Amino acid sequence: MIRKQKIIQRAIAANVIDSNLTAVGIMDFDSLKTTVDDAYAAFPSNFFHTFAVKANALVQVLKALKEYGMGAEVASPGELLIALQAGYSSEQIIFDSPAKTLDDLHTCIKNDISLNIDNLQELARIDKLMSEYPESKSIIGFRINPQIGGGKISSTSTATATSKFGYALADGNNRQELINIYKQRPWLKSLHTHTGSQGCELELMARGVKAITELAEEINDSIGHQQIERLDIGGGLPVNFSSEEVTPTFKEYADVLEAAVPLIFTGKYQVKTEFGRAIAAKNGVIITRVEYTKNSGGRHIATTHAGAQILTRTAFLPKSWPLRVSGFSADGIEKTPENSEVVTTDVAGPCCFAGDLICVNQQLPELAPNDYVLVHDTGGYYFSNHFDYNSLPRVGVYAVSGNDDNLQFECIRRADTIEDVLNKM
Ligand SMILES: Cc1ncc(COP(=O)(O)O)c(C=O)c1O
Repeated sequence: MIRKQKIIQRAIAANVIDSNLTAVGIMDFDSLKTTVDDAYAAFPSNFFHTFAVKANALVQVLKALKEYGMGAEVASPGELLIALQAGYSSEQIIFDSPAKTLDDLHTCIKNDISLNIDNLQELARIDKLMSEYPESKSIIGFRINPQIGGGKISSTSTATATSKFGYALADGNNRQELINIYKQRPWLKSLHTHTGSQGCELELMARGVKAITELAEEINDSIGHQQIERLDIGGGLPVNFSSEEVTPTFKEYADVLEAAVPLIFTGKYQVKTEFGRAIAAKNGVIITRVEYTKNSGGRHIATTHAGAQILTRTAFLPKSWPLRVSGFSADGIEKTPENSEVVTTDVAGPCCFAGDLICVNQQLPELAPNDYVLVHDTGGYYFSNHFDYNSLPRVGVYAVSGNDDNLQFECIRRADTIEDVLNKM
């Protein structure tokens, strides 16, 4: 039996799902640590890994990731507060939103929090703030859009010619402009790109990193010394959602990067990453109860409590974000073709729109009321997302840790009533 099967069996036995809490997210902190260790093992010591907080913005998860050696990449003031609450120090945080307000920028520069500039208007605001706080230790860089093309999922591709993110490097005279900008501002010490995402090839990601490395070399040469010390190469390592296999691995990505941009493996630059999905996704699952089943038009339909409120991307873009499910009986036995009839199934969520489905037209062992559905690989961008606040009364989150035969559960978020939600907001 694999660890995940033991986790669901123990979760059922420990009664973590009840009539008030009908869908739970479970984060496996032990396997999370192994993933972070894998990331550090794959890259040399000039690499520092931050976690993209948007992928799993839970204080307990962030505390653990900090303990495992990660920093925090935040993309909103809310994420910044959560990271601070989890104990990250200023130098462990980088702020990356494309829509930072003047207050956000002020907070960063006053408190030595590093940031990446998205555009020239933001640069003008920072010029003013830097004259107010010339001693600020914030490490500041430009986010570059190398305009090298997107991947298979357009809604998460960030390096198209018209992307909303960053400074468009290939447009007009922008490259030379940027060199001049860096020459005039000795406090600009970093360059950033985030060109990967689910659906992107590793080679495309490496091309983005190569583009900013060459640009850093050109800027430094033109200034006459190494002003740019840090390269922030973003996150975006894709995750395999179709099986248990972890692919691509951090090591595979490191090998592709080293072949394309050997310079960043020499120690000349401090290199910062911002992995989110690749750290979190495979270390979390959602477990939900089947409330009812029925047949419609020859299709077996199992209605559960996990839908668009926590599986938002999958419900709205099912082709881009397909998820695997497994069924378990009420006493925790996995449903297999050996012990159940296989039927064509839709697994549905509780929301009142037709697309609120976890998976469609799947050949699954027949699900019955009070069975459980385990939704795999949902530790990133699912139960922890900000937009599930509306459904908090019924979505709890547990941490699981310990060896396979002695798994311990700790509730890290639970609100049973609307009053609880209001008190927590
Ligand atoms: C700037 C930046 N860094 C890191 C990430 C994390 O990406 P992923 O979860 O794909 O690793 C994102 C995702 O949107 C991002 O915009």
